[in-house]
Amino acid sequence: SALALLMILSAYLLGSVSSAVLICKLFKMDDPRLRGSGNPGATNVYRMAGALPAAITLLFDVLKGMLPVWLSYYLGLSPIILGWVAIAACVGHIYPLYFDFKGGKAVATALGAMFPVAWEMALLLIATWILVFSISRVSSLAALITVSLAPFYAYLIKPQYSIPAIMLTALIIWRHRTNIIRLIQGNEVGFRKPKS
Ligand code: G3P
Repeated sequence: SALALLMILSAYLLGSVSSAVLICKLFKMDDPRLRGSGNPGATNVYRMAGALPAAITLLFDVLKGMLPVWLSYYLGLSPIILGWVAIAACVGHIYPLYFDFKGGKAVATALGAMFPVAWEMALLLIATWILVFSISRVSSLAALITVSLAPFYAYLIKPQYSIPAIMLTALIIWRHRTNIIRLIQGNEVGFRKPKS
């Protein structure tokens, strides 16, 4: 429907607003795409600028997923369309229209998209991330394990969202391919500022 297309397009346009780049600008820091891992996300903002700018980045990236899915849900769109809205927000975050198509990895944005439709699942995903992160201290590993479990959680908790969950998982894992290589080679950067 036209409404569905409008929501998918809006989600992409909102997702394209790179919180990390804007917050770093606000805090008079360099572009996060030129520092640390080069990823414009909360993890890399933490490496560059510390907890407060990272927390604000995380909040806005979560909202980019949450708001369009919330609105679409209340407009009565189907689970499959909600899935496409979530994917559009994440694609915007990853390939942002206004930031040279050089965006982030969509972990926070995908999480935000879960809240309106399956908050139990969102909480389970957060708990999983925190558990893996507290053991490993590696943000990318925590994200990879968490998103790999997401389709199973969806299947158990909200089976109607299993297919969108699989699609989001595939997108996020693909986006972490350089992290996966670094993890295998044993030189992933972790959470702290890498020594240069
Ligand atoms: O959310 C992104 C995280 O999973 C990895 O970030 O900066 O270590 O590549 P980074």
